[in-house]
Formats: sequence, C-alpha cells, structure tokens
Amino acid sequence: MNRNFEKERRLAGLFSVKGITGLSIYCFSEVESTMDTAFSLPDSMISDRTVILADRQTHGRGRFERTWNDSEGSIALSVILTDFDIHIPYSMVASYAVYKTFREYTGRVLLKWINDVLWDNGKKVSGVLTEERAARTVIGIGMNINTLHFPPELNGIATSYRRESGELLDPEDFISNLISNLLSLLDDIHSGSIKAVLTQWENASKMKGRNAVVVLDDQTRVSGIIKGLDKKTGALVLIVDGREREVYGGSISFK
Ligand code: BTN
Repeated sequence: MNRNFEKERRLAGLFSVKGITGLSIYCFSEVESTMDTAFSLPDSMISDRTVILADRQTHGRGRFERTWNDSEGSIALSVILTDFDIHIPYSMVASYAVYKTFREYTGRVLLKWINDVLWDNGKKVSGVLTEERAARTVIGIGMNINTLHFPPELNGIATSYRRESGELLDPEDFISNLISNLLSLLDDIHSGSIKAVLTQWENASKMKGRNAVVVLDDQTRVSGIIKGLDKKTGALVLIVDGREREVYGGSISFK
C-alpha cells in the first residue's frame, strides 16, 4: 500500500490543533478512485469517518457515471461512514461543508443543487458523490483549489480558487478545515436535526424564486419556480402550474 506518511503526519498535527483526535487518514499517491479504495479496505482497517486521500486518481468518477477529472492542484478524498442514517442527504451536508470551507478563503462561491459548489461566474469548483454499499456510506469530494489547467472540454465549466483569485491555497490546511467542518456538521445532524444545515444550504444557493428546469434521472423535464428545499430530505420544491412538486435528484439549470 502506497501511503504518504509525511502528509499524514502533517494532517494529524493540523487536526489535533482543531481538537480532532483519533481520526484515521489514509493518504495515497495514486489510486483508481478513492471511492473504490474506501469500499475495498477491510473492516479491520477502517472506522466511522476514516478518510481516504489521493494525490491522483486514474479513474475518478462523478455523478451520472461521468468521469471526474483530477487535474493537478485538485483534491480528491472520500470519507467512510459506518454510522449513518439512510434518510440523511449526505451529499448535501458534504457540499455545504465544502462551501463553508471555501468561504473561509473567499466570498465568491455559492451552492448549486444538488451538490455542486460553484465560483460566482457559474463555473464548478467542487462536486460530491455519495455511494452506499452494504454497511458503508462513502462521501466522495473533489475540489479544485490550485488547479491551473483543465482539459479543453472542461475549460468553460470548471475552475479553481487559484485560477479565479490568482492565489495558492495550502492543500493540507484546506483539507483539514474541510474535514473539521464536515465532522462537526455530521455531529450536529446526528445529534439533532438537519433542518439548520438545509436552511443554510438554501440561503447559500440563492436559488429561491428563480425559474428552473430540472432534468430528472429518467430524463423527464420539470420546469417551475423554486420555492426552496424540503428541510428534512433536501428535495427541491418547485411551483409547477401553481402546485408544489418535489424532486429528489437530477440536473438543474436556470432560465
Ligand atoms: C460530481 O460532481 O459529479 C461528483 C464528483 C465527485 C468526485 C470525487 S473525487 C473523490 C471521489 N472519488 C471519485 O472517484 N469521485 C469522488
């Protein structure tokens, strides 16, 4: 197993500064996908909230079976949950944690339903993918922090903190802040309710009142005015022909 112990040590130090101890972090130079690694590690090597980090993924994947491109300067990680509640929309919790973390460095990011973080020019800086298998839920997060070059097909739709601000971020500092934000959100929702997180999510998306089209997973199109999020499930509530309609997944665009 190829592990970057130096990085792991530094992260452990950063986490202990934030009062988080006992977190297992596996750092790899290269994996196919941190999702696959997260599912393939034996139970004896993991515990709830174990983190898998990779400098490079050869087969990173995104939603809708798309490829996730790991360009140099981006971060790829997965967090394994063994203690989870199938009713919680973990992707939305994670995207809110990413948003919150970027906001510690810049005011120029916002959330896009269902789990993207965008720069204020509409280009994507982060995506989240959550998968469940057997007794594990794995939250995968890709973040473009210092990426300078994207493949040509992504140039118009993806960007990074560095490309937009001209500044470099310290990846370990960013990862440590992200994990710390994510873990405290998980503590909050597991011990209380998800309503507060989804209310903050809705505010950060600035989507209320906008005209939108959602292409559902079965390719059906739903058009309407956004009323907001259902504060238990994270479903998008649209007003369609004067009636409320909830949608639970799909791809949104604004008119
Ligand atoms: C999306 O926007 O479609 C979701 C992208 C999720 C990418 C991350 S990178 C870390 C983890 N490993 C993967 O293979 N995918 C997720």
